[in-house]
Amino acid sequence: MAELVIEDLVVTFGTGRTAFNAVDRVSLTVPRGSVVGLVGESGSGKSTLARVVAGMQTASGGTVMLGGQDLLATRGRDRRKRATDVQMIFQDPFSSLNPRMTVGETLDEALATHGSASAKSRAASVRELLELVRLKSGVVDQYPAHMSGGMRQRVAIARCLAVRPRLIVADEITSALDASVQGAVLNLLRDLQRELELSVLFITHNLAVVRYIADRTAVMRRGAVVEEGESDTIVREPRHPYTQELVAAIPRIENAGTDRLLRTIGA
Ligand SMILES: Nc1ncnc2c1ncn2[C@@H]1O[C@H](COP(=O)(O)OP(=O)(O)OP(=O)(O)O)[C@@H](O)[C@H]1O
Ligand SMILES: [Mg+2]
Repeated sequence: MAELVIEDLVVTFGTGRTAFNAVDRVSLTVPRGSVVGLVGESGSGKSTLARVVAGMQTASGGTVMLGGQDLLATRGRDRRKRATDVQMIFQDPFSSLNPRMTVGETLDEALATHGSASAKSRAASVRELLELVRLKSGVVDQYPAHMSGGMRQRVAIARCLAVRPRLIVADEITSALDASVQGAVLNLLRDLQRELELSVLFITHNLAVVRYIADRTAVMRRGAVVEEGESDTIVREPRHPYTQELVAAIPRIENAGTDRLLRTIGA
């Protein structure tokens, strides 16, 4: 059973002679309870695709189905529901968290959005969420400015889980973190994904990371998916010349700090 089914998605920016397709007839499926990786160089259209799925960007063509429902056609009440069905986690948790809210307030607000009834039951849920993302209960009263990047990203993950989304879209969530912290956040996401059987679209530049975290991977280039398959197979036997280039770049990425990352995640 598929949670997300994208078919022939097109996103066009600009008009007339400057018009170009940032997403060009992309089809992609995220089976329920699995992680699908989306890799590709900067500007290949990964975030644009993610933004359409999250309802932050209109599509020029194609269909996006979530849990059997046509996302691009939903409106009104359904659209508000959809806003919680898809949760995004971004590269920079600092900009996605409200600096004036404590961790407790942030999570409480997310739980209230989801319809969690009493303040007392929400307080209990906040404690459970913090436990889930391996944060000490003492952080409830802390503000984002007083936390490390890794802690902030854990809070962003907890907030995302608070609304029990059908699909999580993670866009470069470890790129802004120190290599030593990246591994811990990746491990956490992978553990939670297995524990809670989450469906995740995981976007990254890094094929080594995708091999670790994603069951299947799609490779995007200039708006189009050029190769798709099991992550392990894609890294071991890349067929498309562009994927071969990305795989050849892995050792260079490792020299840039990913080697430490790979050691922490045990890949
Ligand atoms: N709102 C917009 N208006 C016009 N062009 C845009 C807009 N958003 C993105 N683009 C362009 O669309 C293309 C795809 O951008 P996108 O952000 O989806 O790439 P990406 O794969 O996420 O890149 P990165 O790895 O750097 O995050 C780029 O050429 C970008 O400049
Ligand atoms: Mg992007």
